[in-house]
Amino acid sequence: MLTEQQARDAVIIALDMGEQEALELCERLSGKAVWVKVGMTLYYACGPSIVDKMRAMGYKVFLDLKLHDIPFQIEGAAEAASLVGADILSIHGLGGAAMIAGARAGVERAASSERRGGSRTQLIAISVLTSMDQEALESIGVASSVADEVSRLATLAVGAGSDGLVCSPQEAASMRALLGEDAIIVTPGIRPAGADLGDQRRVSTPAAAIAAGASKLVVGRPITKAADPVQAFEDIVAELMA
Ligand code: C5P
Repeated sequence: MLTEQQARDAVIIALDMGEQEALELCERLSGKAVWVKVGMTLYYACGPSIVDKMRAMGYKVFLDLKLHDIPFQIEGAAEAASLVGADILSIHGLGGAAMIAGARAGVERAASSERRGGSRTQLIAISVLTSMDQEALESIGVASSVADEVSRLATLAVGAGSDGLVCSPQEAASMRALLGEDAIIVTPGIRPAGADLGDQRRVSTPAAAIAAGASKLVVGRPITKAADPVQAFEDIVAELMA
């Protein structure tokens, strides 16, 4: 059970839509929701100004750019994304320890800038994309099971400087046990009881995901496609406080 502030802070609204629609939704949820997720589609279409606009409305931003490149490039990219205003930034665990350490160095450098004033962007790692199954892993030369690969990459990522990881609600409990209390565990695939599953299959209710050990929930369509998005958000907050 969370306090009201903890509950509001635990929900990240995925803005998988065009700029105008995203800004209108943010306007309606302003002062109620705390976090939004800006993914690659919105970011590449609008550029850094979209993050400025969200921040100007008072939102914290999870910039879901899933960085994956050589360490030198990632260090610069993570620094730049941090200076753009990302509060959380995603990176691929598959880039390896040196790449993750590069990302960490980049966000550390940005934190010491005047613009960020000591506040460091948190890094969360993607392990195995949920669009990949055992067969897809084998096709890229990975022989271990999906579960083993997720555990290996999670341990590697956090050991190399990531603050946490993204995983399905079903993995939240085992990842919490593996990574300890301090790790940020972010879970998409959230569906309030009775909500349309859409293309998600391995889903969990908001309260169950938090009970399993998630720190934050990424919620898209159950809020963004609801007849009343503000009410849908408030219902999730109420569920987390119950
Ligand atoms: O609309 P919905 O609640 O399914 O949106 C979930 C969000 O989380 C989307 O932005 C989706 O891309 C993202 N996501 C996901 N599953 C993952 C990783 C990210 O659904 N494994």
